[in-house]
Amino acid sequence: MSQQPKIFVTRKLPLAVERRLAKNYQCDFNTTDRLYTQDELVDRSVDNEAILCCHTEQLDADTMARLPEEIKIIANFSVGVDHCNLEAAANKGIVVTNTPDVLSDSTAEIAILCMLGAARRATEGSNLVRNDQWHDWSPTFMLGKQITGKRFGIIGMGRVGQVTAKRARGFDMEIHYHNRNRLDPSLEHGAIYHDSLESLIASSDVLSIHCPNNPDSVGLLNAERISHLPDGAIVVNTARGTVVDDEALIAALKNGKVGAAGLDVFNNEPSEIHPAYRELDNVFVLPHLGSATEQTRDAMGFRALDNLDAFFRGEAPGDRVA
Ligand code: DGY
Repeated sequence: MSQQPKIFVTRKLPLAVERRLAKNYQCDFNTTDRLYTQDELVDRSVDNEAILCCHTEQLDADTMARLPEEIKIIANFSVGVDHCNLEAAANKGIVVTNTPDVLSDSTAEIAILCMLGAARRATEGSNLVRNDQWHDWSPTFMLGKQITGKRFGIIGMGRVGQVTAKRARGFDMEIHYHNRNRLDPSLEHGAIYHDSLESLIASSDVLSIHCPNNPDSVGLLNAERISHLPDGAIVVNTARGTVVDDEALIAALKNGKVGAAGLDVFNNEPSEIHPAYRELDNVFVLPHLGSATEQTRDAMGFRALDNLDAFFRGEAPGDRVA
C-alpha cells in the first residue's frame, strides 16, 4: 500500500488490533468509546475510505445512503451483519465484510454457561449468597434440572451451532437440529436432523438458538412454537434477541411451560430490554458476552483487518457479505 488508506474506527478496539491498524492505515480512532449517533457516523465518515464498525452501529438504509461517496468498504467487527443494510450498501457499491469462525468457540462457551445457569438456578443461588440470605442446606434445597443425557435442540446449525453441539456432547446430550439445509452426514456426528422447526422443538429438553437475525427469523420462537416444547424445557439464546417473541417467552416462563431460560441477547438491548427478564428468578441473563474474551476479540479485529488489507491490496476480502 503506497499511501495509507483512511479508516474511521467507530469503537475502541483491543490494543493489539489498534496497533496493527495504526501501522497500516491513517485511523480516526474512537478513544472514548462513546457510541456515535447515526448523524455522527455519517459526519465522521467524511474523508475516510473505510469504516471499521461493530454491531452497535446501526447502518440502516437511510444512514447507508447518507454515507459519503469516498467510503468503499465497511469491515465489521462482528459475525452478525443485521445492523447493516446490505442492499443499501450494495446500491452504493460499498463492500461489506464480517468476522465468521473466530468467535464460534467463545460463543459456544456462553451458550453452555446460559444452559447451565438456567438449569441449575444460578440467578437464585447467586442472589441468595450475595444478599446474605443463605442460611441452610437441605436435601430438597434449590433443586435444579440435570441436563446430562438430555436432548439438546439447535436452531441454526452453522459454525456456532456446530461447536455448541460438540460441547453439549461433553454432557452426553443427544443432539437434534433444524437448519435451512441438512448438514453433510460427515458434519452431523450423529446429530438428528428435523426438517421442521416444530418437530425439533418438540424434541428439545434444551432449545438453543443459533440462527441469524433476518426477516425469516424475527419472532421465530413465538407462543405457538413454544407450545410444542416439552413441559419445563430450557430455552437458550446467544444469537439475537429478535428471534424471540418476548411476551410469549415470558408468559411461558411464568406458567412453567418453559422451566428456565439462559439469555445473552435481547430485543432492544442494552437499555430497553423487557423488564420481566430482570425480575424472573428462572432467567439467567448476561449482557451480550458471547464473543467477550481477549483471544476472540483480538481474533475478530485481526479478521476484520485481513479483510481490509485484502481490499486495499485490490483483492477480494475473504469474508465479503455484500
Ligand atoms: C457478533 O459478532 O455478531 C456478536 O454478536 C458481537 O457483535
